[in-house]
Amino acid sequence: MNDILPEEVERWHKLEAAFRLHAELHGYAEVRTPLLEPTELFQHQMGETTDVVEKEMYSFERHGDQLTVRPEGTAGAARAYVEHAVHAKEPVTRWYYLGPMFRGERPAKGRYRQFYQAGCELFGDPGPLCDAETIDLVAGFLHRIGVADFVVHVNSLGSAGTRARYREALLAHFAPRKDKLSEDSQRRLERNPLRILDSKDPRDVEAASDAPSILDLLDDADQAHWAGVLRCLDVLGVPYVVDRSLVRGLDYYTRTLFEVKATAGELGSQSALGGGGRYDNMVAGLGGPSVPAIGFAMGMERLLTMMQGEASRRRPGCYLAPLGQVGAERALLLAKQLRDLGVAVELDGRGGRLKAMLRRADSLGARLCVILGDAEIERGVVQIKDLVAHVQEEIPLEGAARVLADRALEFSPGGGQRGAR
Ligand code: HAM
Repeated sequence: MNDILPEEVERWHKLEAAFRLHAELHGYAEVRTPLLEPTELFQHQMGETTDVVEKEMYSFERHGDQLTVRPEGTAGAARAYVEHAVHAKEPVTRWYYLGPMFRGERPAKGRYRQFYQAGCELFGDPGPLCDAETIDLVAGFLHRIGVADFVVHVNSLGSAGTRARYREALLAHFAPRKDKLSEDSQRRLERNPLRILDSKDPRDVEAASDAPSILDLLDDADQAHWAGVLRCLDVLGVPYVVDRSLVRGLDYYTRTLFEVKATAGELGSQSALGGGGRYDNMVAGLGGPSVPAIGFAMGMERLLTMMQGEASRRRPGCYLAPLGQVGAERALLLAKQLRDLGVAVELDGRGGRLKAMLRRADSLGARLCVILGDAEIERGVVQIKDLVAHVQEEIPLEGAARVLADRALEFSPGGGQRGAR
């Protein structure tokens, strides 16, 4: 779990703002659900035999409730959708979220125990158009934030009937090879053979290398949906590879599945920037009506690793450097007046030497340093040092806030609230 210090937070803000803008352009509105949910929500929706549920959840009992700190956002969003009967209010619902998720995984670069996801969930549209549009949303977002080195992997898992037939085909394939599988996979063989395909254990990878592909078993309706998705991706010009081995680590998926993988950069084995798919049975499984759904989530730490740009910190428009008691009290008032005018101000109240204060103003990247000496204040003036233009001048104390605000905001894109940049 990471501390994110202010120098870094600036980059997070940019990423979050870009995601909000992009999601809202696609008709999504933000939803905020609790960090804690009943443990059984995740057990039932993500699947009892998945790694996340079996090994990684932070679960505990309190006040008689079995609770889990959310490992992902989809199950909570679907629970909220059902709980608020949103289906009765609108035919199609588009929700996005940003926030921390928790999985007790082995830490590595790009893999943390508290990590942040940006995700979208769409309820109420079963058609392949919306699968392609969702995938395009992710690819478009990556381009928006300057990430170009990625590949979109797509696959279909079919609907329930296809899955049942696929399960039998996998059992027939793996049962004679049972002794060669990892212990986890031997245990999961009967209950959920699909999980073996998602294992990274070299023994399982070897045994799965010639396993049957579900794409060969799709029924007519699944096949038509799948062909529709690929056609729409072509219409949109989204490059993709059909990845028959893609199953993803959660049990709720039906039909379309996708994952976006980085092809360059420092992420190594944690190259999945995001992933998602359809989960047409979850809403009904939670006691709601039969409403299809699709969504995805991206790992924000991984996106930040891929993004260009230096860490930076907000700069003050004005740095106030008082010399003496009278100056300090006058500076207090001036700082308040400037902030009311929308200028970000830092007041140095430590009573230090001028040279040190100027050095500090410079290192903070302030546009203006205002020197308030007792003698000058008696004369009714203050000194201002323009740290960008490198000029110094004296201005009347009376009305100084307005003059300083005009100067400080002049070069500050986006107005004064955020100070100069
Ligand atoms: P997921 O593939 O488990 O899917 O996670 C989505 C993304 O979150 C991953 O591709 C990765 O970028 C990031 N991520 C996952 N675990 C970690 C970790 N331990 N440290 C850092 N980043 C991580 C889901 O969570 C689904 N809820 C996605 C979805 C939404 N499917 C349908 N709707």
